[in-house]
Amino acid sequence: MSEKGKVVLAYSGGLDTSVAVRWIQETYGLDVITLTIDLGTHEDLETIRARALEVGAVKALVVNAADVFVDYFIWPALQAGALYEGAYPLATALGRPLIAKLLVDTARREGAGAVAHGCTGKGNDQVRFDVSTKTLAPELKIVAPAREWNMTREEELDYAEKHGITVDVTRKSPYSTDENLWGRSVECGVLEDPWVEPPEEVYAWTASPADAPAQPEHVEVAFEKGVPVGLNGDKMGSVALIEELNSVAGRHGVGRIDHIENRLVGIKSREIYEAPAAVVLHAAHRALEGVTMTRQALRFKEIVSRHYADIIYDGLWFSKFHQDLAAYVLSSQQVVSGSVKMKLFKGQATKVGVRSQFSLYSRKLATYGAGDEFDHRAAVGFIALHGLPTRTQAQVLKNLLPEEAVRPRLSPPELKPE
Ligand code: ARG
Repeated sequence: MSEKGKVVLAYSGGLDTSVAVRWIQETYGLDVITLTIDLGTHEDLETIRARALEVGAVKALVVNAADVFVDYFIWPALQAGALYEGAYPLATALGRPLIAKLLVDTARREGAGAVAHGCTGKGNDQVRFDVSTKTLAPELKIVAPAREWNMTREEELDYAEKHGITVDVTRKSPYSTDENLWGRSVECGVLEDPWVEPPEEVYAWTASPADAPAQPEHVEVAFEKGVPVGLNGDKMGSVALIEELNSVAGRHGVGRIDHIENRLVGIKSREIYEAPAAVVLHAAHRALEGVTMTRQALRFKEIVSRHYADIIYDGLWFSKFHQDLAAYVLSSQQVVSGSVKMKLFKGQATKVGVRSQFSLYSRKLATYGAGDEFDHRAAVGFIALHGLPTRTQAQVLKNLLPEEAVRPRLSPPELKPE
């Protein structure tokens, strides 16, 4: 008797992936091994494991990947300043390549010929899973039930009922959410109208800024080479540090993001994010770079950050291009050590102090008071050369191109005193 083929399914314990277990067995005749990965949200892994077996998995595996997630995915993204379209800290996008890698590892260990995920056909997540999987393991097949089964929500619920798969409260919520340690996302329901202000009920990690404490709270973040290592003078492990900041900053209403986002598949979608720790840490990290990196390096870093965010968002984590950019980022972070004082107040996280042994800020150069060591006379020659090309061209153009024709908005009319 030949053994049945096996597939490893990324299993959340929710309705879609529970239905997927049964659907894969029926449609492909494969044995389903589920893999549930905790990315720092303290899932009840034993309950999820039991549910997987109950809905028909032949084996249910669970793994706590929070530390690896932070050290290998979140910190590099923070060091890179990766915010998609300047706004989204990329929580979900960072989680997908790790999940794909763990699926691949598991498939190889278990002798499975395929991996499976619950993504639909219109999101970014399918791209991230599929590209990551195929890059790491070209030999594996990918099964994506929700992309293949062509069931409406109602048909899916019927299918679940028919197969004795219990449906929990997710049926009632009009929202679609995803979360890991780095942030939470909310879509669907009234949020699909971009004119509608998000109702308070969509938020789970943050207080409403209006109800946040009347007194501000300060938090001091210590960095070593661009990586957060402590809060308020205490050394802290990566996961604990993010958890603590999520709770402190969330209490002050910090970390709400309302973003009309350009999906990779061409759709604009309205996304609500909550990412208190990410918002505080990105602001603090940028502030520390601001004093430790030169102007030139900072300008270049902006470009790198944008490309880095796109790489993550677009599912290209395991690309050579990412490795190349990461090498640059890592090198750039050698000077990004020190501390940043952040003030949390009514939805805002503001940098109010920064210090570093690598600081390029020099009081002797900057001061307008006593002890000024800046050479004012040197400025004259500098300005002469700095302005030289502009002055030269102005002379050349003077009689050739009327000023108003070339730069109308930049040439205000002459005003005569009355
Ligand atoms: N729009 C975000 C992204 O593409 C969040 C996606 C959330 N995923 C989900 N399956 N609900 O990264």
